[in-house]
Amino acid sequence: MRAVIFDLDGTLTQSDEGIFKSIRYAARKLGFAEPPESDRFKFIGPPLMYSFREYLGMTREQAVEAQEAYRERYWDTGLFENRVYPGIRSLLRMLKKRGDWVAIATGKPSDPARRIAEHFGLNRYFDRIIGPDLNDGNAAKDALILAALPERFDEAVMVGDRHFDIEGANALGLPSVGAGWGYGTEEELRSTGCTHYAARVGDLIDLLCPGDPMPRGAFLSVEGLDGSGKSTQIGMLSEALDRWGFVVRHSREPGGSPVGERIREILLTRGNEMESLTEALLFAASRAEHVRKVIRPAVERGEVLLCDRFVDSSAAYQGGGRELGVDRVMQLNAPAVDGTLPLATLYLDIGHEQAMRRRTAASDPDRMESEPDSFHARVEAAYRTLIGQDPRRFVVVDASRSPEEVGRDAAAGILARLTAAEEADE
Ligand code: TYD
Repeated sequence: MRAVIFDLDGTLTQSDEGIFKSIRYAARKLGFAEPPESDRFKFIGPPLMYSFREYLGMTREQAVEAQEAYRERYWDTGLFENRVYPGIRSLLRMLKKRGDWVAIATGKPSDPARRIAEHFGLNRYFDRIIGPDLNDGNAAKDALILAALPERFDEAVMVGDRHFDIEGANALGLPSVGAGWGYGTEEELRSTGCTHYAARVGDLIDLLCPGDPMPRGAFLSVEGLDGSGKSTQIGMLSEALDRWGFVVRHSREPGGSPVGERIREILLTRGNEMESLTEALLFAASRAEHVRKVIRPAVERGEVLLCDRFVDSSAAYQGGGRELGVDRVMQLNAPAVDGTLPLATLYLDIGHEQAMRRRTAASDPDRMESEPDSFHARVEAAYRTLIGQDPRRFVVVDASRSPEEVGRDAAAGILARLTAAEEADE
């Protein structure tokens, strides 16, 4: 069996924001000058006690006190001011598929390290998470790596972004990979004697999993009435997905592909009155392009494709709003969609009256938005039918609340679906 041991900060997660804010908090609390922004990256990697003494000039006693103050802020806020590097999720999935032993050896105590892994839905990828005891401020990296290794293994490799990680591996006679995307410099990693240097996560994937297929990504859509706050929520969801280490790509319907965008113009230009059937077929035509040229290739590449509207919009607007019938519009779209349905669809649930009030506050309505309220009432009713038909696909969120509240629930619902899908794939 092969064992792959990872450092956490700067290797799996980009954690400087939470760490640095907590360091500043601790310095302030002890009456020391806050370190300047230019020192930010020095603090990631070395043990806290070392940093407080070396960089801030504290005595041992002061450093112990500063560590306490640091934890006050870090353990409930700083931990989560953090993001998983893009590509790391895919790498962990690939290592698990290979049957490797995967562990973390970090300089932060194991409790917060576990909470970070859990927070990002990554804990099931790790066979072991090792950090120093709470009061062991100067734990040597080689001892941590040793504790993270399984009892028996054929080969092992340590992956880390600072000289501490490479030195730890060297002390144990293990090969190491310098992670170039983290907080150390290439010069630091090479001069400490890393066996390999990976400039990007993709290079590490090539090194550890040569020839393995990329795990599939996912297709997500966001739906709702015009005025439900879709654009704001797509931005917030995208940020949450990004923090979780998903490689996010945006698209929209109608549009999303070059030909689709031209069809969009025809569909949304006011004055382009047309038969309801023509309209439905044009939306379907744009979708046929989008599914084949954009959605499927992105999912194959391992990306999360976040789409502003998909076939449910046709069922709701042309099926309900234009009264062509939900089932008929779904049938009409079947060859365009060809079985490619979103893994999850976020539905921003807001009544049509409230949506209209929000819409009229915004300027310049397009051809669909200019329809009377009765049209949007039928759209809403059709969405309800669709949700009833496929409750497992929809994540329904009450969108009448503040953007932050909606965003929190939306992200939680979608991330739960994504991690469940990752689990099912194992
Ligand atoms: P949208 O992207 O929400 O508009 P905006 O960019 O102005 O926020 O969607 C454009 C309009 O097209 C919207 O009113 C819904 C409508 N629509 C349909 O009627 N059928 C469809 O299949 C799709 C995808 C959209």
